[in-house]
Amino acid sequence: MNISIIGSGYVGTTVAACLADLGHDVTNVDIDADIVETINAGDSPIDEPQLDGLIDEHSGERLRATTDYDAILDTELTFLTLTTPSNPDGSLDTSIIDAATEQLGETLAAKDGHHSVVVKSTVVPGTTREQLIPILERTSGGVVGDELHVATNPEFLREGSAVSDFLDPDRVVVGTSDDRIRDQLREVYSPLDGVPGEKLFETDVSTAAMIKYTNNSFLASKVSLINDIGNVCKEFGIDTYEVADALKLDDRISERFLRSGLGWGGSCFPKDVAAITHAATERGYQPAMLEAAVEVNDRQPRRLLSLMDRHVRVEGKPVAVLGLSFKPDTDDTRGSRAIPVIDGLQERGANVVAYDPAATENMREHFPDIEYADSAQSAVEGAVAALVVTDWAEIERLDDELDRMATPVVIDGRNAIDRRDGIVYEGLTW
Ligand code: UDX
Repeated sequence: MNISIIGSGYVGTTVAACLADLGHDVTNVDIDADIVETINAGDSPIDEPQLDGLIDEHSGERLRATTDYDAILDTELTFLTLTTPSNPDGSLDTSIIDAATEQLGETLAAKDGHHSVVVKSTVVPGTTREQLIPILERTSGGVVGDELHVATNPEFLREGSAVSDFLDPDRVVVGTSDDRIRDQLREVYSPLDGVPGEKLFETDVSTAAMIKYTNNSFLASKVSLINDIGNVCKEFGIDTYEVADALKLDDRISERFLRSGLGWGGSCFPKDVAAITHAATERGYQPAMLEAAVEVNDRQPRRLLSLMDRHVRVEGKPVAVLGLSFKPDTDDTRGSRAIPVIDGLQERGANVVAYDPAATENMREHFPDIEYADSAQSAVEGAVAALVVTDWAEIERLDDELDRMATPVVIDGRNAIDRRDGIVYEGLTW
């Protein structure tokens, strides 16, 4: 099919490259000319495994990028993959997707015949029907259900495994009441195993949006629960990972998302849990479990710093922060637990020496005035404490280098480093 995708971030770029790989003709529209140029040169604008290869293979053939919305007129279906960040009060900031929908509508005003619009961005239930469709009809002059067709199709890909998550999904969720676009999306995804079939879940627009929020809320709550239990275990001197190993044997619990420690960050969990909590509260229900999941998640960086305080005073002293990305194998620092950890160290007057294999430049925007080491070894050299924030493989391998510390105090937030003689070791929940 002839498909356009508006927005070329983690999701948009991955979806564009993967749909081209499935055999579709894809036009990726973005306002950033540098991103457009990068894709047309066959490179990936984001650091994501396999994505470079797919873009190199399909760029100039089935995949092209442009800043010109008119290119959409040559396509039959448009995905909206714009970011929907949080407002300070936790509510959804839809200004970016509103603007893109407005420009899409204005573009479609020049098109005769049918066009389909698929909202892939994460928006709270009601947004598509009450906000995006009215914008689309007002600016295009078309009528949804007549020549305009709308569906939601939330994405479940994870950073660091985005391509494999898209090409081998647990499920594809489609929300619409419109047969035409439902059939089109079946065609879009038909090259995937199990679609149409057991992996295709079709429902209405709002339910599809709620499935996305519930999925992320469930995963975030599962991590916060094992962290809450982890904090209890720590008070008893019990290793939460030993407990979790037994929990994994219960197939109702499963082993996934049971890694206790500093908790969750990223561009999705924090904003999605906040957005659905805010939207529910506005409608008169306060989701106590979701509020507790956030509360426990916020405690973890403070508890890591309190463990450090038990062993060493850091005022005026160098402290190594090992890991800055919100999880290993990505350069993304959005929502990273390193941010509250570094805030806490600065409140204590410590001299922060940070290291991360990939995320330094992104974190430098957030903390321009801290020191950034070019290796974990040099970060710990002379430090009075080392805090493990992200469990990168190379940080897990640290061992003898720790003897270079002024005082070998290691406070581990990710169960990355083995406790041993010669170092003062504290595990956040083990
Ligand atoms: C998540 C969802 O998994 C994905 O389906 C959705 O589309 C986007 O949000 P992502 O944010 O990329 O993906 O990362 P994920 O691997 O889910 O980890 C989220 C956070 O939870 C990370 O900060 C990670 O460190 C933390 N986490 C995860 C834990 O602390 N413990 C775990 O056991 C698992």
